[in-house]
Amino acid sequence: MFFNTITTMVHQLLRSYIQPGQIFVDATVGNGYDTLFLAQSVGENGRVIGFDIQEKALEEALKKIKKEGVEDRVSLIHDCHSKLDCYIKDPIDGAMFNLGYLPKGDSTIITTAETTLQALRKSISLLKPGGIITVISYYGHDGGEEEKKAVDQYLKNINEKEITVGCFSFINRHHYPPILYIIEKRKNRKK
Ligand SMILES: C[S@@+](CC[C@H](N)C(=O)[O-])C[C@H]1O[C@@H](n2cnc3c(N)ncnc32)[C@H](O)[C@@H]1O
Repeated sequence: MFFNTITTMVHQLLRSYIQPGQIFVDATVGNGYDTLFLAQSVGENGRVIGFDIQEKALEEALKKIKKEGVEDRVSLIHDCHSKLDCYIKDPIDGAMFNLGYLPKGDSTIITTAETTLQALRKSISLLKPGGIITVISYYGHDGGEEEKKAVDQYLKNINEKEITVGCFSFINRHHYPPILYIIEKRKNRKK
């Protein structure tokens, strides 16, 4: 199925966008499924920079990445994604945010409105024209609603002349269906 889960849908979508040699950020590495997907998609000349505040998550992700032999193009950073500008100086082609808590991990360690918004702002400012950011918002856990509202509010108010923001959800699923935001920086118009 194309969109049985939101993550498969994001991978399908990004697959049609990502080119070999591009630079992508995984702002929430977790168990490393997205990092691995990005690393395989950008190819040997590409670069993936991943962040997580949990060492356990990064260790798990590193195992997956090494198993597939793509560790040469991945940098895993044990720090908050709100500090991504301390580590990344070059423009990026895209970023993935997969909000919430680590599946099968400690459900009290969650992404939060304050740092998520900082990371989003910084990613958008590093984003190349034509670049893309995907954000999956899960909000069924304690603290999730607050982050969801903040992200939604922030994205709805971004200048439409510079950034296009789309939003998708499963409208016939009633138990906190995840929300996908797709953010694209517009290319400069030729004068
Ligand atoms: C839903 S999981 C990500 C799943 C992941 N994309 C995957 O493919 O398995 C969210 C992750 O965000 C991490 N996280 C929470 N707050 C963070 C922060 N401020 N900076 C970076 N990562 C954070 C959590 O530790 C958790 O591993």
